Amino acid sequence: MSPVKILPDIYWVGAIDWKIRNFHGHLTQRGSTYNAYLIVDEKIVLVDTVKHYLYDEMLARIKKIIDPSRIDYIISNHVEMDHSGALPKILKLAKNATLVTSPNGEKGLKRHFKKDWKFKVVNTGDTIKIGKRALNFILAPMVHWPDSMVTYIPEEKLFLPNDGFGQHIATWERFDDEIDPGILKEEAAKYYANIVLPYGVQVNKLLEIATKLDISILAPSHGIIWRRYIKDIVELYKKWASNICDEKAVIVYDTMWGSTEKMAYALNDMFVEKEIACELRSLATNHISDVMTRCLSAKYICVGSPTLNNGILPTVSAFLTYLEGLAPKNRIGIAFGSYGWGGQGVAKIEDILENSKFTLATKGLKLQYIPAEEELREFRNKVKAVL
Ligand code: FEO
Repeated sequence: MSPVKILPDIYWVGAIDWKIRNFHGHLTQRGSTYNAYLIVDEKIVLVDTVKHYLYDEMLARIKKIIDPSRIDYIISNHVEMDHSGALPKILKLAKNATLVTSPNGEKGLKRHFKKDWKFKVVNTGDTIKIGKRALNFILAPMVHWPDSMVTYIPEEKLFLPNDGFGQHIATWERFDDEIDPGILKEEAAKYYANIVLPYGVQVNKLLEIATKLDISILAPSHGIIWRRYIKDIVELYKKWASNICDEKAVIVYDTMWGSTEKMAYALNDMFVEKEIACELRSLATNHISDVMTRCLSAKYICVGSPTLNNGILPTVSAFLTYLEGLAPKNRIGIAFGSYGWGGQGVAKIEDILENSKFTLATKGLKLQYIPAEEELREFRNKVKAVL
């Protein structure tokens, strides 16, 4: 339970959640961390905390540096309980600490914990001098909740963006140059696709501010701390926040007796023929959060389901609900599926894609019972003609 020094007198004192495999619906196959940071200056500052069940781990790390009763300020950059869950316990020890948060942070923390803590509310542009250093605050609403804010310490070129730039990875390594960059990029993409994607406008606003700052260390509240690949992750965030897509297709489907799957494979052949990168994701074998990662930069998102009870398969329904909430933009959609008689399923997919502001490449495509080769060829050619 050792702290990790990230700069002179600045330490990572967070906790590693090795066991977590589901973070509000997002599969976290590699676990996660909740990053808290301790700054020892004339004043002692704790930036964010950890989930309640990992309080002891955070406390053990803090105790290796200072007596926690000496903490002067606790910065709550975000109300969500993965960062605020340990506040009640740490504030019992740090009796004189002031809890610094945004206006919505104060409201949210009061709603969550029903405690009359000593709050100091800050807004963009406010600073708190803590000795040699000053804490600068920038409100970042909706990155990830309305209360979210970020903290910047210019003397150290240290940017603490809370949820922004995070990844769900549990590792002993703390820095981006210590782990496989491929894994890091994949997890950063998965995190963005499943948590940050709806908030592109707000992320772009934050990026505008952040790119004007001199940043040597970008220390999010989950996963690995960026120091070597800051430019790379900022460029990726600009791309993702602006919904800039690659010429790539993801075919997401489930199937009952294999007919919709035949259509999915026919679509795949068509994209291959057109030399458009394409991947098939069966919802019977892929979790929706992994599928969303694949969709993050895909221009074409094709969704297929057979008709079941006048609707669609529950797996496809769950995916579409998730997709609608995450609201990717600038996408081209194709709805397809097989049916026996009514055939209402494809129209349901189309409705959801249209509500999600997708451009539909073609009217929904359906084939009855088991599609014949000739029908699949026609289906393929119909789509090919409109791409
Ligand atoms: Fe990591 Fe929105 O909490």
